[in-house]
Amino acid sequence: MAPQIMKGLKDVYLDTTTASFIDGQEGKLLYRGYNIHDLAEKSTFEEVIYLLLYGALPTRQQLRQFDATLRANRRIPDEVIQALDLVGKKSHPMDALRTGISALSGFDPDVSDNSPEATLRKGIRLTAMGPTIVAAHHRLRQGLEPVAPNPDLSHAGNFLYMLLGEVPDAETTKLLDVDFILHAEHGANASAFGARVTASTLSDLHSAVVTGVGVLKGPWHGGAAEEVMKMAHEIGQPENAEEYCRKILDGGGRIMGFGHRVYKAEDPRARHLRQRAKALSEKVGQPQWFQILTYVEEKVMVPYRRRGIFVNVDFFAGCIYYLLGIPDDLFIPIFALGRIPGWTLQCLEQYKDNILIRPLLEYVGPMDLEYVPIERRR
Ligand code: COA
Repeated sequence: MAPQIMKGLKDVYLDTTTASFIDGQEGKLLYRGYNIHDLAEKSTFEEVIYLLLYGALPTRQQLRQFDATLRANRRIPDEVIQALDLVGKKSHPMDALRTGISALSGFDPDVSDNSPEATLRKGIRLTAMGPTIVAAHHRLRQGLEPVAPNPDLSHAGNFLYMLLGEVPDAETTKLLDVDFILHAEHGANASAFGARVTASTLSDLHSAVVTGVGVLKGPWHGGAAEEVMKMAHEIGQPENAEEYCRKILDGGGRIMGFGHRVYKAEDPRARHLRQRAKALSEKVGQPQWFQILTYVEEKVMVPYRRRGIFVNVDFFAGCIYYLLGIPDDLFIPIFALGRIPGWTLQCLEQYKDNILIRPLLEYVGPMDLEYVPIERRR
């Protein structure tokens, strides 16, 4: 009997989870049972990390302690900074992040301990140190000294401070905080799946997070935000959007920031980023980027809604980063920094009830060929 091939593992349930719930038809997303809209509007990223890793919203005191642990773990060893310098100015920041996380494994006392307690400790450390890696590499590639973490600032505020060298205002910090919240967890997406495959071999969390970073880098996953802003620049003016997109779509191409494997309605995360991109573009006096994106969404891509193709989380994210003065190639690492808690949680779940993830491929090549010695081959 011919095997049933589930190409791309589309619609395949891999396991059960208590991490997040996604209703792709309704456009609904819950983390640990809490609606993403409530979390984006009322929570902080620190609270959301706690929620994901411990399964419940923290009390004030639990949050204070947890936040203090995060702040105390931001520094990375000098050797890791040197490794980031060695990867070179031309390396993509995602490659630097991948290298930095890998290098951190050499300094982590729990590296090969896959117990839930050690995995949690490592996940918290990687969440805390991730921004330091990205910011240090960004400074080094400009020939600048890395900025040491500031324990007086929140996770998002400190990242912006280390990256840009100035303490950000509360509004800017909140923008990035919400962005981190929206990216924190999303079920068995490609990078979390990759991380789970790594964990399923009983490899360690650093290896799983490195896998996650590598998988996230592609433009069909986390790379889309960078591509969206490239597109906005190439379009230049809203009135060029129709022709620009038509050329891509008629040639069988895709508009980045649209479509999703699970959401066949609007991605619920997009709403928050759309609102914030609009407000920020007005605040900084550069409305054209938001106008171009809105034109693409509301004019060009409307017929695609019938096919379940709507904006996803990446469509407006890039516009926000760009308006904050963040270079294009840092868009994906920012996504990755938000996702480290989600990858950690996915690995915790995988370790808890582990089975090696190992699907099959149906062989369709030739069979039983005669082996020809090398001297007789032509
Ligand atoms: N623009 C135009 N058409 C798109 C599209 C897009 N962004 N996304 C999907 N489609 C079309 C495909 O061309 C395909 O058409 P066909 O049936 O005529 O061949 C159809 O929709 C289904 O696409 P498929 O790749 O099978 O769906 P998927 O569920 O595997 O795709 C993505 C999910 C994310 C890979 C896809 O939507 C995509 O490439 N989007 C752009 C990249 C992006 O924004 N990624 C970030 C995701 S959060």
